[in-house]
Amino acid sequence: MKKIAIAIDGPAGAGKSTVSKALAQRLGYVYLDTGAMYRALTCELLRRGIAPDEEAKVCAAVQNLTVELKNDRDKTIVTVNDRDVTDHIRRPEVSARVSQVAAYGCVRQHLVKEQQRLAENGGIVMDGRDIGTVVLPRAELKVFLTASVEERARRRLVQWNEKHPDEPQTMTQIVQNIQERDRKDTERAISPLRQAEDAILLDTTSLTREETIDALTAMVKKVTA
Ligand code: CDP
Repeated sequence: MKKIAIAIDGPAGAGKSTVSKALAQRLGYVYLDTGAMYRALTCELLRRGIAPDEEAKVCAAVQNLTVELKNDRDKTIVTVNDRDVTDHIRRPEVSARVSQVAAYGCVRQHLVKEQQRLAENGGIVMDGRDIGTVVLPRAELKVFLTASVEERARRRLVQWNEKHPDEPQTMTQIVQNIQERDRKDTERAISPLRQAEDAILLDTTSLTREETIDALTAMVKKVTA
């Protein structure tokens, strides 16, 4: 069967990473979590004490940073210049700053080039905000995955509190972060979050993870038939 490129975009916490990874495993495709790349750069800038609102300093620093993603069975190992940042990229302080860093043209150019290179041979599921519109405008399948804010926040809360029972977050904190990131990601000048004209809208508010993966698999079958 022909190996295609699949672009999955949508707002924060819509479940893109979980279902994209599972879909890639099911199809034997490569999976690329582009959000993890923006998070990794943000993480390293914070570690170096570079303020995300200082664009010139951010741009100078990112030119020398290489982000790599290696897919283990259940986990994606994320490194910046060979330093493992996997356990840090989803922390609240990174979530609070990532959309500011991701709004800079220099940051996007740096990462988009690498994302496009990885997709050259097809057989890839890539998730993010601008995949169908900018990174892979010719992807054979584009999906815009969404869900209500309440449902997205509920899923995030369960995910975080299961992994970090000693550092629980509240629903209010998560809703605020999701809404703030959605606003910044939608309103930014360069590559804003929006549904591509040829993308299929999939609202997962009342779908389970399995139902969502099944719906995506059916879309792939239709495209590759
Ligand atoms: O998983 P979650 O929905 O929390 O977000 P993510 O995919 O990890 O992305 C984190 C942030 O990176 C987003 O809020 C965007 O600001 C930025 N991002 C982006 O600008 N473009 C992408 N292709 C992917 C992420």
